Amino acid sequence: MGMAKTKRRYVCQACGSVSHRWQGQCSDCGEWNTLAEEAPATVFSQKHDLSSGGRPIAFEPLDAPGKELRRRPTGLDEFDRALGGGLVPGSAILMGGDPGIGKSTLLLQAAGRIARAGGDVVYVSGEEAAGQVRLRAARLELADAPIRLAAATSVRDILTTLNGMEPPALLVIDSIQTMHSDTIEGAPGTVSQVRGCAFELIRYAKETGAALVLVGHVTKDGAIAGPRVLEHMVDVVMSFEGERSHQYRILRNLKNRFGAVDEIGVFAMADDGLEEVANPSMLFLSGRDAPLAGSAVFPALEGTRPVLVEVQALIVRLQSGATPRRAVVGWDNGRLAMLLAVLESRCGLNFSSAEVYLNIAGGYRLTDPAADLAVAAALVSALADKPLPSASIWFGEVSLAGEVRPVAHPGVRLREALKLGFDRAHGPAGAGEKIPDIRYDELGSLAKLVDRIAS
Ligand code: TYD
Ligand code: MG
Repeated sequence: MGMAKTKRRYVCQACGSVSHRWQGQCSDCGEWNTLAEEAPATVFSQKHDLSSGGRPIAFEPLDAPGKELRRRPTGLDEFDRALGGGLVPGSAILMGGDPGIGKSTLLLQAAGRIARAGGDVVYVSGEEAAGQVRLRAARLELADAPIRLAAATSVRDILTTLNGMEPPALLVIDSIQTMHSDTIEGAPGTVSQVRGCAFELIRYAKETGAALVLVGHVTKDGAIAGPRVLEHMVDVVMSFEGERSHQYRILRNLKNRFGAVDEIGVFAMADDGLEEVANPSMLFLSGRDAPLAGSAVFPALEGTRPVLVEVQALIVRLQSGATPRRAVVGWDNGRLAMLLAVLESRCGLNFSSAEVYLNIAGGYRLTDPAADLAVAAALVSALADKPLPSASIWFGEVSLAGEVRPVAHPGVRLREALKLGFDRAHGPAGAGEKIPDIRYDELGSLAKLVDRIAS
């Protein structure tokens, strides 16, 4: 009996799951070609049990006076807002985002603010030479900020150095995928390396009270690459998003052990770095002089923040029997398929011989479920080739039965729309408070929406 001692071990580089046989597709997360052979993890002898030999731990009552969470603002208000008020000492933050989206820029700007305010900052770049980081700092007018900068990738070197000095208020590791530990086999970026390096760095942060930011690359489908396991190890997971062809960037909080997760920070990438956008609600509306068929405005809610976005639909009727395309930018593919199915089966519309394109203007990515009605309105308007009434907004969640369901905070959405000159709203029945200067049309079902637009 007994298992072979040197069992091969293949680790999925996307989700971290382990199998003992190479496969083209990970059986856990379904990604292709992500399995890579890694050295076996250290397993301590099974002979020792854990029931004796330890030190006693102390118990405390729940109401013991504890350390209060003291946050250190970075001075970038949009960053602080997304963090839930600032950096918590000793916490570990994972900052994900597509390459080139502006992670290094954002962190260097935050580091510069903290350093200028008297906080000690260590910025370790494993991706760029110190000269490159210095050039960026000059462009950001931060050349004189007292940041301690190093280009390094050995976690042993980094921790040895840090242990010989006062711990900094902020430690930036850019990026975790470039870090390397000599106690772990495998190349930087493999799951074992990323996990092992992150573990050591996080332990340093917890022990010293330094706030740690780990930059993490993101794969095509938006997951933080190298392991999702990293997301479980850190206190805060943030994602920096946007289209590289557009100026706007959104910093989202996806996990926060110390506060709310749904707040966002909004920035615009300019020649001299990221500018904060304190009032983002107009940003994602395109110039809307003449109303166009297929365009609907949706009052999205990001945390407590309303943002008005424009949903654009284009329908192209096909002559031949070719399979029609459906393409979506900025919204969920599956959700579009569902809405099309509901419009077909509950309202008798026919999209089957038409190509459907859906785009959220300005490079915005919609996640608010209340967008269904605006998307449906854009689709129906495009199909009927009739513009929607100008200065109107649409919101509501759509069920498979075609009902328009209530959504969170209709009042906040309505007030923001009013502020920006919209005086007409369409949404679910019984949307709560009425706002005097806005005409509110209740649409209980998609059938009613189709009636309204197509007739
Ligand atoms: P960067 O912070 O290097 O992205 P990441 O670390 O996420 O890979 O930013 C890269 C892009 O931002 C690059 O294409 C240039 C642009 N950029 C500006 O437009 N203005 C600036 O001031 C800076 C520093 C960068
Ligand atoms: Mg970078």
